[in-house]
Amino acid sequence: MRAQGRTGQWHQLRSVFVSNPRQIPYGQQTHQFGELWLPDGATPAAGWPIVTLVHGGFWRSTWALDLMDPMAASLLDDGCAVWNIEYRRVGHEGGGWPGTGDDVIAAINHVATIAEEFGLDVGRHGIVGHSAGGHLALWSTLCDRLTTPIALAVGLAPVADLEDGWANGLGNGAISDLLGGTPDDVLDRYREASPAALLDVSKAPTPQAIIQGTTDEDVPLDYVRRYVDLVTASPVPTTYDEFRDVGHMELIEPDHPAWVRARDRLLAAVQPTVVLTGFMGTGKSSVGAALAEALGVDFIDTDVAIEAEHGPIPQIFAEYGEGRFRELERDVAAAAASRQGVVVATGGGLMLDATNREILSNAGRVFALTADASEIIDRVGDTEHRPLLAGADPAARVTELLAERAPVYESFECVATDGRPVDVIAADLLSRLRR
Ligand code: S3P
Repeated sequence: MRAQGRTGQWHQLRSVFVSNPRQIPYGQQTHQFGELWLPDGATPAAGWPIVTLVHGGFWRSTWALDLMDPMAASLLDDGCAVWNIEYRRVGHEGGGWPGTGDDVIAAINHVATIAEEFGLDVGRHGIVGHSAGGHLALWSTLCDRLTTPIALAVGLAPVADLEDGWANGLGNGAISDLLGGTPDDVLDRYREASPAALLDVSKAPTPQAIIQGTTDEDVPLDYVRRYVDLVTASPVPTTYDEFRDVGHMELIEPDHPAWVRARDRLLAAVQPTVVLTGFMGTGKSSVGAALAEALGVDFIDTDVAIEAEHGPIPQIFAEYGEGRFRELERDVAAAAASRQGVVVATGGGLMLDATNREILSNAGRVFALTADASEIIDRVGDTEHRPLLAGADPAARVTELLAERAPVYESFECVATDGRPVDVIAADLLSRLRR
């Protein structure tokens, strides 16, 4: 069955065998639970990156978390754990405001409680909500009540401005039902529950990605655009993607380009491709391998990839010249940039090329490993395998090349490697990814 690839059928089978998802309560009430989906395979040392899903349905009891099951399956395929949360809604005892919001906060904070048991990496946690769930997702990251940071909050057609939404009759009275009155009755609630009202007051705002279809009849385009204007003018870092001729429910169809965009933005936040650059001998290959192992992702060493197909690098230099080697590097860089969530160790000269720099910077996070010239000279040792150092005075050549290349390496986030073991440097990179 598995040979058929990652099909829906495959998921169904897996859910039978490993009981994915697991239902886990975060409170005593019937609707205070989430469903945890774990990817197949051994838990990576760093833990799984995790995405919390918040379903919509205008905060009414009619709709439930199974709306988001296809999104869970889609993220699972990309190596993320998924926490699909339920919460009390209008019509449930204790639902409405503040109960609905309190539940969502408790559900998200519960990830830290279960992290160790299930191998979740709370430092790489994203949230996505659709419609009213978009309201709850964005609001949760603006109200300063979450106990761990969120890397990205995605709002799919989010009801993100409650006063504006009430004034424009969104959801046939759903907003006043949620808040227990009109803005005239309970203005404080509108202010405390509305993402739009918190954009400038939130202490540590999470970046947002807003995604909207132009023909949405439930959460109209103009309404979302007004929120996008507000968030763009606020301190909250934001991206906005608009999809032509797309309505409300397509945003949660797993193969729809709008959802694919949402998923890509989430993955870029919680499981970015990591690119290591730096001079020869700075440990890119060994640190890259250790980091990939800790993250449980594929590792690409551009020199190894080139040698696997074209033979030893000194031979390529000797027979065809450096120009040919740089050409091969461009091909490998393009192939690596097309992969999501991998670790790439580049040859020391690869990022000197402007196109390679651009595509790999766009593909993920780039770090430059650094070391003192004297340490590099010690580390590179046998210069026979490094054609660029093959002359009479390799030490002088290292110093010269280092000075020449420093501006490029220093344009990236630099990580010093002098006197630090490989696992310590890999752990340092991991903590930078978690920030
Ligand atoms: C080079 C570095 C080497 C290899 C080639 C050229 C460079 O890789 O790609 O010899 O221009 O700095 P490492 O940095 O992995 O040694």
